[in-house]
This record gives sequence, C-alpha cells and structure tokens, in this order.
Amino acid sequence: MKIGFIGCGNMGGAVMEGILKSGKAEAKDVLITTASNGKNFERCQRLGVGIAENNAQITSTCDVIFLAVKPYIIEGVLNEVKASWRGEGQLVISVITGWNLARLRAYIPEGVDILNTMPNTPCLVGEGVFALNMDADLTKEQFAFVEDLIGDLGTVVYIHENQIEALSGVCGCGPAYLYMMIEAMSDGGVAMGLPRDLAIKIAAQAAIGAGKMVLETGMHPGALKDAVCSPKGSTILGVHALEKGGLRAAAMDAVMVTTKKMLEMANE
Ligand SMILES: NC(=O)c1ccc[n+]([C@@H]2O[C@H](COP(=O)([O-])OP(=O)(O)OC[C@H]3O[C@@H](n4cnc5c(N)ncnc54)[C@H](OP(=O)(O)O)[C@@H]3O)[C@@H](O)[C@H]2O)c1
Repeated sequence: MKIGFIGCGNMGGAVMEGILKSGKAEAKDVLITTASNGKNFERCQRLGVGIAENNAQITSTCDVIFLAVKPYIIEGVLNEVKASWRGEGQLVISVITGWNLARLRAYIPEGVDILNTMPNTPCLVGEGVFALNMDADLTKEQFAFVEDLIGDLGTVVYIHENQIEALSGVCGCGPAYLYMMIEAMSDGGVAMGLPRDLAIKIAAQAAIGAGKMVLETGMHPGALKDAVCSPKGSTILGVHALEKGGLRAAAMDAVMVTTKKMLEMANE
C-alpha cells in the first residue's frame, strides 16, 4: 500500500512521522510533495520517504492520500490533479480546515473515497487527538483501517461533520493555548527563583499529569481542582488570582472565536 502526502509541513509531517514511528508504514511506501526545498523537504529526505515530482504523481499512484496543504492552496492543488486520480480503491484523508465532504467532492471524482478529519500537532508525539467525520460515506472496514493506520498518533474520536469546527476550537488550537499556560506558569516560577529549564519542565509535566488525572479518574475537572485546594491554603489563592484575571472567560472566548473563524472559513 502506497501512502501519499500532498503537503508535509506541521500537520502533514506530524501525521507522516507518527505513522512511520508506529511501524504502520515503511518509508519506502510513503510519497510526499512539498512546495520548496526548505526544512520540511529536508525532514522528508532525512526520513527516507519518496519525494514526488509533482502532486499528480501522488494522486495517480498512491492508495491512501493525505491532503495537508494550507486551506487557501487546496483549491489550486485539486484543480492541478483533477485528471490524474487513479479512481476506484483510492482513499483521500483530508486534514484541511474549512473543507467539508461536499466541498472536497466537487473536485475529487466519484469512486475515490473521501474522509475529512481533524488532527492536532501532538500526533507527532503520540498524544494527539484525531477526529474522524462519522458522516463520511465509508464502510465499517474503511473506518477500521483508518483507525488502525493513525491509531498510535493519539486518541481517535468520531464526530459529526457539523461538530468539526467546535472540535478544532478545543483541540486543534488548544495546544497553542496550553503552551501559553505552560510558558506563563514557568515565567511565574522564574520570577520566584527557579531556573527556566526546570520551570518549563515541571509546568509541562503538571499539564500532562492534570490531563491524565482527568482522563484516568473520570472525575470532573472542577472536582479535581477542589481536591488540590485546602481550606486557608495556597492553591485557593492562586485559583482566586486566575479568576480575577479572567482565565475561564478568556479560555472560553478563545475556543468560541476560533470556532467562529473556522465556520467563516468553511462558508467562504
Ligand atoms: N497546524 C495545525 O495544528 C493544524 C491542525 C489541524 C489541521 N491543520 C490543517 O493542516 C493543513 C496544513 O497546515 P500546516 O500547519 O501543516 O501548514 P504548513 O506547515 O505550512 O504545511 C503546508 C505544507 O504544504 C506544502 N505545500 C504548499 N504548497 C504546496 C503545493 N502547491 N503542493 C504541495 N505541497 C504544497 C508546504 O510545502 P513547504 O514545506 O515547501 O512550504 C508544506 O509542506 C491546513 O489545511 C490546516 O488547516 C493544521
């Protein structure tokens, strides 16, 4: 089975590297295109994957094709490869924000199956979220195949097409918000005398630990927060400082504005 990547930058590269690391595909079975000979190209060379001469080489030879270019580029790419699809038996997996099934189908011939998805960059370290559109016209076996292919990249979830933007607001953009939180907490640690590298390390580990506590105990995050706050203790003062700074409203706003932006992109 040949796997192609049209676009192999932050997201496409994370998915490609994750699949190679998981052993679900070998470098010799992967073919990619990038636009330039820059760092993404160099990474692909280092990993030993095939580099296609053009996008049409991917659509004419690969069985599974990831679309991972920027949203404003995809229309040009799909027009460019229009006549080169092999057809029956090919599966397109798109990670492109704002491109739903109908929009993709307008450029991809019937016979080529399409699944639109929403992953996030922590797929690179096996801790991503990979959302699959359960409304896609795929068989159970095809969904199982995709789940197996990308399963080691993180948690696979199924969503309806009309939930994709809200999901991306939380977990597509979410890593950026959490990096800011980790950076800000480590700034606080540095202000109070910790060396920077230690402060970043423990703030990041606290974030991992908190996430695991939520997932593994099944407890509500509010209850877990309460469990850290002793009466008259220090944490509750920190909680007050965060509330005063508007952390919750800011985090909700961040998810809501990004979701609205993605809905706008989907309707452009
Ligand atoms: N980043 C995220 O966290 C995230 C999360 C979910 C979904 N997505 C989606 O993933 C897609 C890619 O985003 P990204 O952040 O990975 O962007 P990116 O890092 O800029 O990667 C885009 C890739 O497309 C390549 N490219 C540009 N023009 C091309 C062309 N005409 N033919 C073939 N390849 C071409 C680029 O080549 P060069 O390397 O030569 O520039 C690069 O490898 C977007 O549609 C985005 O909505 C991203």
